[in-house]
Amino acid sequence: MRGLLDKLAEGCELTEQEWKFLIAGSYDRNLLYARADEVRRKHYGTNVYIRGLIEITSYCRNDCFYCGIRCSNTKARRYRLSEEEILACCDSGYQLGFRTFVLQGGEDAFFTTERVAQIVTAVKEKYPDCAVTLSLGERERAVYEAWYQAGADRYLLRHETASKEHYEKIHPQELRYEHRIQCLQDLKQIGYQTGCGFMVGSPYQSTEALLADMQFLRKFQPHMVGIGPFIPHHDTPFRECAQGSLTQTLTMVALTRLLLPGTLLPATTALGTIHPEGRELGLKAGANVVMPNLSPAAVRSQYSLYDRKACTGDEAAEGLESLKRRVEAAGYQVVTDRGDSRLGQ
Ligand code: 5AD
Repeated sequence: MRGLLDKLAEGCELTEQEWKFLIAGSYDRNLLYARADEVRRKHYGTNVYIRGLIEITSYCRNDCFYCGIRCSNTKARRYRLSEEEILACCDSGYQLGFRTFVLQGGEDAFFTTERVAQIVTAVKEKYPDCAVTLSLGERERAVYEAWYQAGADRYLLRHETASKEHYEKIHPQELRYEHRIQCLQDLKQIGYQTGCGFMVGSPYQSTEALLADMQFLRKFQPHMVGIGPFIPHHDTPFRECAQGSLTQTLTMVALTRLLLPGTLLPATTALGTIHPEGRELGLKAGANVVMPNLSPAAVRSQYSLYDRKACTGDEAAEGLESLKRRVEAAGYQVVTDRGDSRLGQ
């Protein structure tokens, strides 16, 4: 086990058998978490970077089987934020110490190339010392280019699963695995700090699929990787499916830290949702980012990707003081910093 972790931490390629053993976790997982924490400290010290998450639209044209804001969920309440509302979120976030704003939303045609470019320009003008991250789904390369020209620094687009076969079981036919991967490649080529990511324990996920995720990460070398447990949403086709486990999620976070020592890894909201100490456990397993919610309180419950999604207390930007205390109690500290990736360093 230790030998395997050494091999991984030294950047050696593992065989499929070795990966499967590490993913399956029939060993003392605390050894894995401790090793991931060590590597994280070597590259990032005990810093925890914060990102203000602004959920700008809950409209989505897609119909992903797992997601609560899928277009065929007629019960989902929909909203869009105006440019003024988005800037007001940034204002309060800046005062709280956020230096990265993440504008996330469903795939909503209302947010045209020009509209988003205009918003990015306005945010960057007002906060030139802040990074702007976009997370608005799959678009044409020319659109990504326009947003990059407008000043966007980073883009998050989880690949969801790197197994094409698995991808097709959790998405409708119109959504093509190849297109999603192409988007990620375009984003990285354009110059964005690019984040991919996957759910752990989503329906039909096998060890092979998680192995494919690791192989994809090795090849793609993302700047950021969002990893969270699947959590069923009551108005989706996967309402009866089991939720992803805490330990399997922590295992994948820790393996990702060892595989990509300089990457940014959030202790995700979903991880904080399935366990009261999920986020702290994530940090101790190699994560170094948290993304509290900066959306206006009135709309937060409407951005319902899965059941019980945490958006108050320590998940809320107003709860930053209490989040800071919890992060410190876990042995780390929240910093006021853009928190750029150290990929390749
Ligand atoms: N459980 C966990 N994560 C989910 N997401 C969407 N639906 C769910 C769910 N039911 C994640 C997807 C998406 C991100 C914004 O939220 O990975 O990329």
